[in-house]
Amino acid sequence: MKIGIIGTGRMGSALGKRWARAGHEVMFGSRTPEKAHTLSEQVGFGAQGGSTEQAVLFADVIVLAVPFRAAQEVLYALGDLGGKILIECTNDFNADDITSAENIVSWACNARVVKAFNTIFDPILASDKLSDLGSVFIVGDDDAAKATVGTLVRDAGFEPVDTGGLADAHYLDTLVRLIVHLNGGLDGKRNINFHIRRVV
Ligand SMILES: NC(=O)c1ccc[n+]([C@@H]2O[C@H](COP(=O)([O-])OP(=O)(O)OC[C@H]3O[C@@H](n4cnc5c(N)ncnc54)[C@H](OP(=O)(O)O)[C@@H]3O)[C@@H](O)[C@H]2O)c1
Repeated sequence: MKIGIIGTGRMGSALGKRWARAGHEVMFGSRTPEKAHTLSEQVGFGAQGGSTEQAVLFADVIVLAVPFRAAQEVLYALGDLGGKILIECTNDFNADDITSAENIVSWACNARVVKAFNTIFDPILASDKLSDLGSVFIVGDDDAAKATVGTLVRDAGFEPVDTGGLADAHYLDTLVRLIVHLNGGLDGKRNINFHIRRVV
C-alpha cells in the first residue's frame, strides 16, 4: 500500500517506519520537506520524504499525525483528499461535547476518515518489538476503509478492534484518558497498552 504520513513527529515517524519495514511504500510529508527527506533516510526500507502535498498525492492512505490544535489548518491547506482513506490519531484533551474525530471529519474534504492509534503511546511504536503489541481501537463509518486500516494495524504489530462508527469515537477519547491515568499510576514509562481478547 502507498502510505503518506503528514507530520514527522513521534507518531508519524514511528508508524511510518513500522509500515516501511513491513513492505509498504511510505512517504513522509512535512511543512519542511528537508526534514522529511532526512527522516526517510534514517528510516530506510525505501521510505521517501517530501512536502505534505506530495505525500497526499503519493498516497492511497493518508495518516494525519499532527497536534490536534494544528489539524484544522493542515487539513484546510491540503484541500480535496480525493476520497482517500485518512487515518487520524489525534487527541483533544480539552474536548467536551464534540469528539476530535467529528472535528476532523468536518475539516477533511472528501476523505474516508478512520480514527486509530489514538490510545497507543509513541514509545511502543518506536520499540523494536514487531508483533503482539496489543489492541488498536478503530472507528469509522466506511467498512471498506476500516478493513484496510485493520490490515495496516496488523502490519504495525497490533490487533485491530472494530469499535464502531464515528458516533462511537467518544469511547476512544475515554480510553485514552484511562490509559494516561493508568500510566500515571505506574512508572510513567508510557509502555502499556490495552489488549482485548476472549477469555472463555
Ligand atoms: N505521542 C503519543 O504518544 C501519541 C499517542 C496517541 C496519539 N497521539 C496524537 O498523535 C498526533 C501527533 O502526536 P506526536 O506525539 O507525533 O506529536 P509531535 O511529536 O509533536 O509531532 C507532530 C508533528 O506534526 C507536524 N505539524 C504540523 N503542523 C504543526 C503545528 N502547527 N505545530 C506543531 N507540529 C505541527 C510536525 O511535523 P512537520 O514539522 O514535519 O510538519 C510535527 O513534528 C497528535 O494529535 C497526538 O495527540 C500522540
